[in-house]
Amino acid sequence: MTSTFFIPAVNIMGTGCLDEAMTAIGNYGFTKALIVTDQGLAKAGVATLIAEKLAGQGIESVLFDGARPNPSIANVEAGLAMLQAHHCDCVISLGGGSPHDCAKGIALCATNGGTIADYEGVDQSSKPQLPLIAINTTAGTASEMTRFCIITDEARHVKMAIVDRNVTPLLSVNDPALMVAMPMGLTAATGMDALTHAIEAYVSTAANPITDACALKAIEMISRNLRQAVREGSDLVARENMAYAQFLAGMAFNNASLGFVHAMAHQLGGFYDLPHGVCNAVLLPHVQSFNAMVCAERLAVVAHAMGADTRGMGPEEGAQAAIAAIRTLAREVEIPNGLRDLGAKLHDIPVLAANALKDACGLTNPRAADQRQIEEIFRNAF
Ligand SMILES: [Fe+2]
Repeated sequence: MTSTFFIPAVNIMGTGCLDEAMTAIGNYGFTKALIVTDQGLAKAGVATLIAEKLAGQGIESVLFDGARPNPSIANVEAGLAMLQAHHCDCVISLGGGSPHDCAKGIALCATNGGTIADYEGVDQSSKPQLPLIAINTTAGTASEMTRFCIITDEARHVKMAIVDRNVTPLLSVNDPALMVAMPMGLTAATGMDALTHAIEAYVSTAANPITDACALKAIEMISRNLRQAVREGSDLVARENMAYAQFLAGMAFNNASLGFVHAMAHQLGGFYDLPHGVCNAVLLPHVQSFNAMVCAERLAVVAHAMGADTRGMGPEEGAQAAIAAIRTLAREVEIPNGLRDLGAKLHDIPVLAANALKDACGLTNPRAADQRQIEEIFRNAF
């Protein structure tokens, strides 16, 4: 088996690590940064805090706060125009998956030209992106350390998966002190996204011993800490454990890729502008039920990592225990029951399924599926 392992060159994490990270950023010798964030973090003053710390390192900055949830091609183009107008020599993304993905699109187009839609698919760019430093505030999409960039094409109502080694950030920063302000719903959704990354990577056809180790540790840590992080957001121990866990899940899926949960969730996000983590959480048990006939043994290991007592169980029973554990965790962190509760429409299923089958994330799902089978999984998840 051969494998290529992608990860940012430097990754700084742990409670209170922001100042250490700022020193590292200063050492790169950049002069002007485009800070890419969302309006919430800009209004909360977090972007200003980062700008001040950059100034302390002798780095000027301009603020682009136009990264919307499910960032669009238009968001990328607006940020790119600002970067070019101000002649920035690096990009600093601040936030969760949406600012990071928007910043990746900006940094990739800044050096490769064209529009971000030109890079849909796997490794379509030819040049390294402008240096990108990703400061993470959720736990998490892991976008601060992956080569995945998801941008919504509003005209087609689809989320484009840009899987490109050139969008890997130069440096990732995970300071849980920046995560304590996350509301309960966002904590739950992003935590379930991380669990989905770990489980999809663990049952992926591209899994290898490195990604397996990362995935299992992530599953174990998320199962032990997510409830507390949701219940008691100021608990820095739970927050730090979730920051490490989501990073481990990122290491797993950045290299083993994902499966149908993400391929299908991307379509719900693109079609109805729904939160990514919630879509994943709702779909996860249904896709693993579909997968169980080909990867029951692996799912039984997932059940054990989630804390289920699997002694004496055969693989099929173990797989059912994993699916039950996923459902229990999702319910306890108040994830909605089904896609109907999210506002999805049954009559949209054929087009959602057709688009899901085109998504690069589905290529490594352990069980192949056709249009009818994907439609059935969507229906089961209603
Ligand atoms: Fe995800």
